[in-house]
Amino acid sequence: MKTIIEPFRVKVVEPIKMTTRDEREGYLKDAAYNLFLLKAENVIIDLLTDSGTAAMSAEQWSALMRGDESYAGSKSFYRFEEVVRDIFGFKQVIPMHQGRAAERILFSVMCKQGSIVPNNTNFDTTRANIEYLGAEAVDLPIPEFYQPAVNHPFKGNMDTAALENFIKRVDPERIPLVMVTVTNNSGGGQPVSMANIREVKAICSRYGVPLYLDACRFAENAYFIKLREAGYADKSVKEIAREMFSYADGCTMSAKKDGLANIGGFLCTNDDQLAQQEKDLLILTEGFPTYGGLAGRDLEAIAVGLEEVLHEDYLQYRFASIRYLGEHISRAGVPIVQPPGGHAIYIDARAMLPHIPPLQYPGQALAVELYREAGIRSCEIGSVMHAEKYTESGEEMPSAMELVRLAIPHRVYTQSHIDYVVEAILQVYERRTSISGYRIVSQPKFLRHFTARFEPVDELTEILRVRSNHGKQIFLQN
Ligand code: F0G
Repeated sequence: MKTIIEPFRVKVVEPIKMTTRDEREGYLKDAAYNLFLLKAENVIIDLLTDSGTAAMSAEQWSALMRGDESYAGSKSFYRFEEVVRDIFGFKQVIPMHQGRAAERILFSVMCKQGSIVPNNTNFDTTRANIEYLGAEAVDLPIPEFYQPAVNHPFKGNMDTAALENFIKRVDPERIPLVMVTVTNNSGGGQPVSMANIREVKAICSRYGVPLYLDACRFAENAYFIKLREAGYADKSVKEIAREMFSYADGCTMSAKKDGLANIGGFLCTNDDQLAQQEKDLLILTEGFPTYGGLAGRDLEAIAVGLEEVLHEDYLQYRFASIRYLGEHISRAGVPIVQPPGGHAIYIDARAMLPHIPPLQYPGQALAVELYREAGIRSCEIGSVMHAEKYTESGEEMPSAMELVRLAIPHRVYTQSHIDYVVEAILQVYERRTSISGYRIVSQPKFLRHFTARFEPVDELTEILRVRSNHGKQIFLQN
């Protein structure tokens, strides 16, 4: 059969509240045009994230009942530890309530003021946790990563020549670890090849620097390797995942993605001494090292989810569904990051809305428009999320790319939902020249995209607008 179907049946349904365009206009105003501030019940198709939004399987729901809620040494922890060790292969497995908790604890133990952490591309929470400690997060992806229209089978790769030059240029003592994020979420959900991980490891070994994987989407990355890298077609996704982790000294993991769980994560390492320091910190803020801020039942759901995500019929269907969305909109002219990613399609808002200057946030404008048009919630990954940087004269610097991510939650939406999304995007694309930009009216110091408040740029107001931000003067040009 040519048709690839959802390899599951629906057992429980959750009704979707349908809304009108007028209602959505009101919800947008109430949320200050920040889609994170919408009430989820007012969203028709929620593509904000694939994180923590998965539908659990019958096996996971059954596993919840097995949850052992003992404070210390619960059976659920040992089941969880066994599954994680089997796939990831690390000696020490420390549960965490989610990925950023693992990041905070890892960097608190390994980094200090002045440390530098190179990554293919730091995710926003990774960067924020590093910078919060007075350390620096550096992105070293291959050049193709910054060219949305360019096809590359492993566009998430790290630029290994740049990494080696970088380590040589700054003292390796200042680099407590190198990270590789699989898949590379910030610019397309693009995979990293096994060859690239191996090369990064070789460089790290030469300079005595540990390598960690940000493993959030490890199963999708492993499946891309199976499909695209010579020598892996006959290996199972699990074998490929094990090989990926065999080159690393540890990993951070958000089980909210490829753990198919609604909450949870973990931190792994082969270094017993480091693990002890990490567990000491864990007790301070997360909980005892056999639950790490999770209920026993959560550990059970993750243990089952980690096995299920490796099923190849599931990954085949997931990739087919995401590719379908990408191909249908790009065939009609919508510019997207090519090729389609493992968990999402990213629209290139800079290319689609060239009349909106970067600092009027074309990605935000497009995300707002998709909600207005059809109640679809997506996520800006551009100057709102990344540009909290300023030139010496105090001007905000735009991000390298202005993207809108349509992340597909695991096992939640069917083919007709995807068709609805395609239709909405094409309608917005038709009237793209009439869409205008936004400005930020208030924002917090870190991770501003979650809570910043926006207003539409009124084309009739003055050309040059001056406002104060972080005590600096920011100029937004119409
Ligand atoms: N690393 C990557 C690559 C991520 O994508 C995320 C989360 C994290 C770390 C942090 O994990 O949310 O469990 O604390 N990404 C979500 C997203 C939020 O929508 O892409 P967390």
